[in-house]
Amino acid sequence: MNRLLSALAAAILLTAAPLSAQQPDNRPVYLDPDAPIEERVEDALSRMTLREKIAIIHAQSKFSAPGAPRLGIAELWCTDGPHGIRPEVMWDEWDQARWTNDSCIAYPALTCLAATWNRDCAQLYGISIGEEARYREKDVLLGPGVNIYRTPLCGRNFEYMGEDPYLASEMVVPYVQGVQSQGVAACVKHYALNNEEQHRHTVDVDLSDRALYEIYLPAFKAAVTEGDAWSIMGSYNKYRGTYACHNHRLLIDILKGEWGFDGAVISDWGGVHSTEEAIHNGLDLEFGTWTDGLREGASNAYDTYYMAAPYLEMIERGEVGTEELDDKVRRVLRLTFRTAMNNDKPYGAMCSEAHSETARTIAEEGIVLLKNERDNLPIAADAKRILVVGENAIKMMTVGGGSSSLKVKYECSPLDGLRAYYAGRAEVAFARGYVGDVTGNYNGVVTGQDLRDKRSPKRLIEEAVEMAQSADHVIFVGGLNKSDNQDCEGTDRKGLELPYNQNDVIEALAAVTDNLTVVFVSGNAVAMPWIDEVESVVQLWYSGSEAGNALARVLSGEVNPSGKLPFTFGRKLDDYMAHANGAKFPNPKKVFYHDDIFVGYRGFEERDIEPLFAFGHGLSYTTFEYSDLKLTSREIEANASVQQASVTITNTGNRPGKEIVQLYVADPEASVARPKKELKGFAKVELQPGESTTVTFTITPEHLAFYDEIKGGWHVEAGEFRVIIGASAADVRLEESFVVK
Ligand code: BGC
Repeated sequence: MNRLLSALAAAILLTAAPLSAQQPDNRPVYLDPDAPIEERVEDALSRMTLREKIAIIHAQSKFSAPGAPRLGIAELWCTDGPHGIRPEVMWDEWDQARWTNDSCIAYPALTCLAATWNRDCAQLYGISIGEEARYREKDVLLGPGVNIYRTPLCGRNFEYMGEDPYLASEMVVPYVQGVQSQGVAACVKHYALNNEEQHRHTVDVDLSDRALYEIYLPAFKAAVTEGDAWSIMGSYNKYRGTYACHNHRLLIDILKGEWGFDGAVISDWGGVHSTEEAIHNGLDLEFGTWTDGLREGASNAYDTYYMAAPYLEMIERGEVGTEELDDKVRRVLRLTFRTAMNNDKPYGAMCSEAHSETARTIAEEGIVLLKNERDNLPIAADAKRILVVGENAIKMMTVGGGSSSLKVKYECSPLDGLRAYYAGRAEVAFARGYVGDVTGNYNGVVTGQDLRDKRSPKRLIEEAVEMAQSADHVIFVGGLNKSDNQDCEGTDRKGLELPYNQNDVIEALAAVTDNLTVVFVSGNAVAMPWIDEVESVVQLWYSGSEAGNALARVLSGEVNPSGKLPFTFGRKLDDYMAHANGAKFPNPKKVFYHDDIFVGYRGFEERDIEPLFAFGHGLSYTTFEYSDLKLTSREIEANASVQQASVTITNTGNRPGKEIVQLYVADPEASVARPKKELKGFAKVELQPGESTTVTFTITPEHLAFYDEIKGGWHVEAGEFRVIIGASAADVRLEESFVVK
């Protein structure tokens, strides 16, 4: 009997022994799930056939890649991103799958997150959205987006983190870390130079290396080198003649070379155009090449992806080896073991109370009080009749705008939020004011709202004006929306002006009330020709599921506003350097960024243009005093020492509040043109009335350097540097200088 058993065991062992290349090893790869990831990667790679390797580097459906079923290597599931978890679509099509359990919490858009200037908010955001992604069994979250706000016309600015590379870098890192703490990869997008939408598939961007390294790359670099992002998405546009999804300089030289990125480069959906370039120039995972996968292919359209059969055939014909393929497979396996096959990942959660609270807290911290004459806000405690005017007070904003469109569990509109907050205390009436875009359907998700109103613009204004005359406080809620040519992927805005006849409505209201608050729901700057006629202006952004509750708590004074602008509001389009020289926008073919490093406030300050509202601007219901700027040394060594600057902030008003203290650095005498100043530090501090605190910033040589185009690296020049402490880029409070030897 024993002999029989050992003979049997020997037979089993023989079958399990390594097989030849033609007969692959069939053991599942997860024999030791606790082994270090790199060992698991090499183990899996060594067992995969050529066809399995080819299969794992391209999609099998709209949002998934197949893994290697024979070896038990899991599928990888992606989801948009970046403000909530996208509803399920069909296997092969963009159409809704019509599930009934895929509603999510909408977090505020990333412009709002950036406006919090609060790194803890970014981390909380990442953790919360990561939990929802995890619960929905997604492995890769397609976000966050960190393309720089170059022009207010870019339709997708609302999905990004503003105009300043330092602010975006500081905010993206905790977001990425938060998401990934859930065993879900962040996919930082759109790398790189996706600064316009209309012609994003064709535009060929060129710019100086200085602008590339100083303005457009830092947030991506921080996401990779400090946030350890596990994946990155190539953008649609070209850079210097080659598509970004397979651009050697961007992907091989910079991302994988200079920054040591060990994750996977994922194409934007349909961003791949060449097998040969994809093989050699650093793309790892191809998605979305044909929109309707099975419909358009003869058999399985995914086989015709650039990195599918065409790649396999090139290998079989001996035109290319498998070195590049193995590198791609390693990266996809690493991504899989970090996410789908990560044994330590938590289980996630969906639409929890904690998630609603996160959404509300971030919205509250991101709301920016732009103007507040005569302490018009908060709304007087004895106000009995509040009038809300405007379509954006009622229109659902989580539906529309492109791939970030959501199906939400709920969305509290500004009107609903105000009515709930003031219930039993004041009457909150509503007048439509204007009719903008009544669409209530995006990609099969319907809002269920019927916003049609046949009355003439004149009649709507008359009604609002009439009601305003007897109101204690009038709140106009307008701005942009998520329809084409507004804040919307795939299209750009046509001008800086407010759409529809909103300016007329605001002017008519301003003429009959002295308590007018204008609230903007938008992710972009708008021109405000009536600015001197209104008492208050509030930037609400697209604040997600909790927008209305957050707004009510800020307008009522329950929450003291503490957000500041992550980009400059100009008075007219030409105020922005990108438009100053009359450059054509949007541009279908080649564009050279003549504005160079002078993006955002750097451009306004270079040309001495007074913005409507400066970068970093945001008011509070209390006041703050800045004093005692001290530097640790008057002289430091270039590349060796570190400088510290400390400053005291005091809450001089009578309410608790939060202030965002900003540190800028200037290099007044340099051998190259340098911005008048650049943000290199910020801190958000909370203070009780009368309370003071000291904030200490560390200034490293990196903060003083510029990108030297000739030497191809960062360089600090000797001489005087100025440390500027401001409440915004335009509100400088204290200055000191020191010398670099
Ligand atoms: C967008 C990406 C998005 C992808 C998948 C593309 O059109 O540019 O941001 O993640 O679609 O929906």
